[in-house]
Amino acid sequence: KPVNQTSAVKATPTLPDAQIVTDVKHWTDRLFSFRVSRPASLRFRSGEFVMIGLMGDPDPKTGKQKPLLRAYSIASPAWDEELEFYSIKVQDGPLTSRLQHIKPGDQIILRPKPVGTLVHDALLPGKRLWFFATGTGLAPFASLIREPQTYEDYDQIILTHTCRDVAELEYGRKLVEDVRNDALLAELMGEGFADKLVYYPTTTREQSPRMGRVTDLLKDGTLFRDLGIEGMSAKDDRAMVCGSIGLNKDLKDILESFGLREGANSDPAEYVVEKAFVG
Ligand code: A2P
Repeated sequence: KPVNQTSAVKATPTLPDAQIVTDVKHWTDRLFSFRVSRPASLRFRSGEFVMIGLMGDPDPKTGKQKPLLRAYSIASPAWDEELEFYSIKVQDGPLTSRLQHIKPGDQIILRPKPVGTLVHDALLPGKRLWFFATGTGLAPFASLIREPQTYEDYDQIILTHTCRDVAELEYGRKLVEDVRNDALLAELMGEGFADKLVYYPTTTREQSPRMGRVTDLLKDGTLFRDLGIEGMSAKDDRAMVCGSIGLNKDLKDILESFGLREGANSDPAEYVVEKAFVG
C-alpha cells in the first residue's frame, strides 16, 4: 500500500513535525489508543518507536514553549497509511495527563526518527517467536503481529500479555481477533497465516481463565504445558520482551537460563528487550 498523508482530516499542520489525530479509543480509565496521520517520508521497521508529544506550557519567565516528548512504540505495522499508538493515562503525568484528552482533528508532535531493538533484524533466524508483554508493552507487538515478515520468518508466533485485570486485555484481544479476520492481511500474508498466531493473555488481579504473571507461568512450566510445547532452546526459540523494568529483568534471567542470548541491531542473537513507555 502506498504511504500517503491521510486525507481524512483537512486541518493544516502548524506545529513543527505536527501530525493530525484521526481516531481515539478509550479502553479503560487507564488506557487509550489513537491514530494519527503519517508523514509521507516516514519509513520504519515494525516494532520501532518514535518520540511523540505536545507543546509544553509556556515558561513562566520567558513565555517560551518547548515540546514535551516521550518515547512511544508504533503500534501499527510498517505498511499502514496511518500511525497507531497505545498509551497509559497517568493523571499527574506531564504528557499523558494532557494527551488523554486529544480528539480527532487535534495536532500532536511526532519526531520522524524511528529507532528500537524489537525488530526482526536484531534476531537470528529461528522457528518459534515469543512476544512477552505487560500493560502497554503490547504496542510494539501490535505492530509486529500485523507485519508479514513475522509470518514469513517463523512457524509459530506466541503473544503473551499480562495485565492486572480483564478490561486491560481488551485492546490486545480485539487486535488479535481483527488480525485473524482481516482480509487484507490474509491477502498480504497468505490464507492460513493466522493459524501460526497463538494468543496467551493472563491477569494478575482479577479472575480470568488464565491467572498469574507470565514469568511465574514460565518458571513452573504451566505456559509450556498449556501450549503443548516442551520448553525453549537457543536453536529454535526467539523472543522479544516489552514491559516494566521488573518484567524485563525477570524475563532476561529466564530466557538466559534456556540458553538464549540478548541481541541488538548490530549483533543479532536470540532475544531482545525494550522498556515499555511509562507515565
Ligand atoms: P502484578 O499485578 O502481580 O504486579 P502494571 O499495570 O503495574 O504496569 O502491571 C502490568 C502487569 O504486569 C500486571 O499484571 C503485573 O502483575 C505484571 N508485572 C509487574 N511486574 C512484573 C514482573 N516482574 N514479571 C511479570 N509480570 C509483572
